[in-house]
Amino acid sequence: MIPSKIENAFNEQINAETYSAYLYWSMSAALEEMQLPGFAAWMRVQAQEEMTHAGKFYHHLVERGGRVRLKAIACPPEKWDSLLKMFEDVLKHEQMVTGLIHKLVGLASEEKDYAAGVFLQWFISEQVEEEASVETILGKLKLTADAKGGLYMLDKEMGKRVFTAPTKGDDE
Ligand code: FEO
Repeated sequence: MIPSKIENAFNEQINAETYSAYLYWSMSAALEEMQLPGFAAWMRVQAQEEMTHAGKFYHHLVERGGRVRLKAIACPPEKWDSLLKMFEDVLKHEQMVTGLIHKLVGLASEEKDYAAGVFLQWFISEQVEEEASVETILGKLKLTADAKGGLYMLDKEMGKRVFTAPTKGDDE
């Protein structure tokens, strides 16, 4: 049986991960308007990943006899002043999510919920990767800011990202 505090916190995290997908879809739409189809595609893959994150919490609750309670998803912003500002917001958002994951790890430890603790390990590593990948993109954006054609090339590169479906058990 899953402790009720963990059940509640995991339901909140389903909401946070789903909001992340919403945020990245909104960014993707804004990128389409900015005529950056590669960046827009990259952001949609990011949104797909967020839904697999939400799915992992969902499956963990179901597996342990917890109740899934879906809550309203907040409206994400629709406009950003620049591409750089948008990716700075992505980094801030991911840092916030990292903080949420670390809080969950602390709660699992307080509640002596070892199963939740093991489950959350995947997310600790995932957040390190997420932050690193956004920091790399921010670095490239700063490098290409003044280079003629640089953004065009970077957009092409961003468009190569493909969504890799989680292997069995990876979304559970
Ligand atoms: Fe699910 Fe990007 O954190």
